[in-house]
Amino acid sequence: MIELPFNNIDYGPPVKSVICHIGYVALVGKVSPSLFSADFANLGRVVVEISKLGADFLHIDIMDGSFVPNITIGPGVIKSIRPLTRVPFITHLMIDHPERMIENFADSGSDYITIHIEAKGDVGEAVKKIRQSGKKPGIALNPPTAFSKIERFLPLVDLVLVMTVNPGWPGQKFIPEAAAKIREAKTLITEEELTTLIEVDGGINAETGKICRNFGVDILAAGSWIFGAPDRKKAMDELKSL
Ligand code: DX5
Ligand code: ZN
Repeated sequence: MIELPFNNIDYGPPVKSVICHIGYVALVGKVSPSLFSADFANLGRVVVEISKLGADFLHIDIMDGSFVPNITIGPGVIKSIRPLTRVPFITHLMIDHPERMIENFADSGSDYITIHIEAKGDVGEAVKKIRQSGKKPGIALNPPTAFSKIERFLPLVDLVLVMTVNPGWPGQKFIPEAAAKIREAKTLITEEELTTLIEVDGGINAETGKICRNFGVDILAAGSWIFGAPDRKKAMDELKSL
């Protein structure tokens, strides 16, 4: 049984404005646990637990069996977990024709809605619809896709999602060449004085997360590293300290 109400959860101070110390290590990096690796039979409980442990965002993977050969959950499930936490949701849409589904995901309570540049359909229209719905658009790119393909979207989005695995499954091996695009994104964002956040997703652990931080990433999404850890708080704090 999930305990109610959830409004009494003490999330502590926002990480952005407060530097916490464990020993001499500052926990200032942002972490976004990917629910794909959570126990779906206990999803609500996991959402509450991981929020209490200090998740900065929750990364929610949506797959349609077309853009990727796998299927996960839809907007109905996001809606059902929305009242359980105040942690912002980054919804990662690995779907074709995202422009057809934006209203549904906006209504679900997602905060960021990220779509893929490689998706079939009208990516520009999808970005516009996300903005019109009052949500924050994000643009994602797969490991084989050059950074130049998303450059024109940079001033239009709030988040760039650099994939360091080919999407479809958790627990895959990090592709270092793909992570180098973080640096390209960071350089352009700095030059253009934009506030766009950079998130990286796929095969993130303490070692690969460090590489990404050095490239200038803002948010580390991690699934199996956090949910497969015996101590999830320790795993998250380790990523925040990189
Ligand atoms: C991959 C998903 C990822 C994945 C991450 O298609 O987009 O978010 O769940 O899992 P790990 O961290 O295990 O690679
Ligand atoms: Zn993802």
